[in-house]
Amino acid sequence: MLISDEEKLKKLEKISERVRDSELSSIRNVTSGIVKIINDSKSNARDLKAIIEIDPPLTAKVLRTANSAYYYSRRQISDIEEAVIWIGFDNLKEIALSQKVCEIFQKNDDFMEYSRTRLWKHCIAVGLLAKMIYRMEFGESGENIYAAGLLHDIGIIVEDQFYEEEFKQVLHDYQIDKSTLHTAESKFWGYDHADIGQAVASSWQLPEDLMISIGFHHNFEEVPPDYMRMATTLALADNLCHESGFGYRKFFVQKGLTRRLLDILEIKKYAMDMIMDGMKKEIKRMEGQGIL
Ligand SMILES: [Fe+2]
Ligand SMILES: [Fe+2]
Repeated sequence: MLISDEEKLKKLEKISERVRDSELSSIRNVTSGIVKIINDSKSNARDLKAIIEIDPPLTAKVLRTANSAYYYSRRQISDIEEAVIWIGFDNLKEIALSQKVCEIFQKNDDFMEYSRTRLWKHCIAVGLLAKMIYRMEFGESGENIYAAGLLHDIGIIVEDQFYEEEFKQVLHDYQIDKSTLHTAESKFWGYDHADIGQAVASSWQLPEDLMISIGFHHNFEEVPPDYMRMATTLALADNLCHESGFGYRKFFVQKGLTRRLLDILEIKKYAMDMIMDGMKKEIKRMEGQGIL
């Protein structure tokens, strides 16, 4: 459907309002709190502890992870302070963030080979892969790239939760057309899940780079130059995850897309293969621990 920019903005604003009044918003405060800590170099373990502890289910999940076999703790870790000492501040920030965002994906409605569980696994894989690309290729920690990976497809959650019937129609259309999900969404609504994701990220007041890269993860060629690398990395991680079985739906290969993204980012194919292997190992480990 072709709609004017003004109309599109109005519709996205309405969707954000619906999200604001829903249980999805209960996730907002803690999520943006953790993202703030990740972005503030002056923040410390005490800030993180304070934010985790106001959320008892999150505290429980973080402790369960800290006590899992992977961290080889010989004794029971029973509070967040100990968890910080044991698994490290940086690790704990990421664990807390993924555990919190996981709540968004919990409603379990499977239809037409789409499931939230698979979508969650996809988002974790994209987050991990994008983070590894930043660290291994650009030598940067990429403060928000992991969060961007976890949240990049949040627009799909909004569609399945609030517009279920229309969403089913879109899934149907795109399988018939053998196109991409975002193309089918734009054809149907005049906007796609990336636009919705950006609108939600903006209403949650997440940092600009996170918001923009979510918004342009399927439209990286149009992204403002300052955010080019982040949005392109996200697009690359997303596409590679679909290609290698970490998708949430049938994937119609967009010919040459991976090659193009690798060229833009100046990443060699063999280097990317190695990073991919690392991501797969990490996912296996998480599955073994029962986290995924
Ligand atoms: Fe997407
Ligand atoms: Fe995706």
